[in-house]
Amino acid sequence: MSRQTIDVLIVGAGAAGMMCAIEAGQRGRRVLVVDHAQAPGEKIRISGGGRCNFTNTGTTHRNFLGENPHFAASALKRYTPADFIALVDRHGIAWHEKTLGQLFCDDSAKQIVRMLTDGMRARGVVLKLGTGIAALERASDGFDVTLDDGTSLRASSVVVATGGKSIPKMGASGWGYDLARRFGLRVTDTRPALVPLTFETGLLETLKALAGVAVEVEVTSDPAPGPRDATPAVASMRDRATFREGMLFTHRGLSGPAVLQISSYWREGEAITIAMAPGEDVYGRLKGVKDAGGKQAIHTALGEIVPRRLAETIVAREQIAGKLAEVGDKTLRRLDQAVNNWTVKPVGSEGYRTAEVTLGGVGTGALDQRTMQATTVPGLFFIGEVVDVTGWLGGYNFQWAWSSGWAAGQVC
Ligand code: FDA
Repeated sequence: MSRQTIDVLIVGAGAAGMMCAIEAGQRGRRVLVVDHAQAPGEKIRISGGGRCNFTNTGTTHRNFLGENPHFAASALKRYTPADFIALVDRHGIAWHEKTLGQLFCDDSAKQIVRMLTDGMRARGVVLKLGTGIAALERASDGFDVTLDDGTSLRASSVVVATGGKSIPKMGASGWGYDLARRFGLRVTDTRPALVPLTFETGLLETLKALAGVAVEVEVTSDPAPGPRDATPAVASMRDRATFREGMLFTHRGLSGPAVLQISSYWREGEAITIAMAPGEDVYGRLKGVKDAGGKQAIHTALGEIVPRRLAETIVAREQIAGKLAEVGDKTLRRLDQAVNNWTVKPVGSEGYRTAEVTLGGVGTGALDQRTMQATTVPGLFFIGEVVDVTGWLGGYNFQWAWSSGWAAGQVC
């Protein structure tokens, strides 16, 4: 059977793959994008509660984790949030800033998917859905590829944009990691990130009344020193981190933005510390009420500082009862600690089923940071989430997909 010749094969029609296809198509390259899913950009479609938090205006490489946190800097500087906003504006997609530089579509995430698929079509990019890769081998001047519908191709460049492992039912696969290993590239350990954390059943039992309670917190990771911290690059990834955002008690443990953020820094066996009234002098406030007469029940007084159900649970867990006037200052200090220095050891996370991203991936040491090309395999590129570059919650992961896809699209 004769081989069809193309310039660029992109595997994965997600955010990174489609951005790369548009840029390569713009340069006049003959581009084929294949995806084994039935629709392109499925994660874009469901992101941000259906409104896609498509970038963060404050993005820098410091918002990312990975063995080499500086790796992302080059692509992020060359294709910036402002560049993506300009693209969105050119397509007349209305957007708003929700909080902390996070930009969302006013209407629907589907507008971003349409913008990308229209962009590909306008540049002659061919998109083949429901199709995976059956075989891919290095050839003298590119790669020989067989698609799983039997099509044979010769491609000068192959761009791997297969994403991470999260949400397997939406097409996530480990294919990109396997391909990297086959070509001798290192893949760092992968784990679910931006994911709710779970508690053991005993603790869940004492906290079950709190399911559904949301509170603004400051949460801090407490990384254990260990062999993983031996190299400076890994140590920087495992620095203590603090986030001040919302937290939600669930039937399984903790969720909400603050907890999703800290989950990327947390490891099994480690504790996290949570201030549930950050910036508040809980002792001082309770003492003030006590000194003014202290007729209020303790949980009522505490319920003016944290949500009432939380106040009741804390007071019950600390086995304190009665009116404020009846307790000593030592007890008030204990309450202060229970509210603002709650140290808790999650037992696990909800895993890839609900994780927004995958931490780890194709090692950046083997990639050129300007082009995303594998330094030892000319013509092979890795972009987006498959790479060991993982952003915080808040639009950073899409910005990495756009920037890395754009960077590869200039040369592939
Ligand atoms: P992505 O996963 O988007 O695309 C990979 C594509 O490759 C998929 O279409 C898949 O089907 C295909 N594929 C995989 N294996 C294949 C194979 N073997 N053969 C062929 N095709 C294959 N980020 C953010 O910045 N703002 C947000 O609002 C959100 N919200 C959000 C919500 C939820 C529920 C999730 C799960 C994730 C987010 N994210 C996010 C993260 C964001 O979705 C993610 O970082 C990007 O989609 C990554 O883009 P990629 O193109 O790298 O992979």
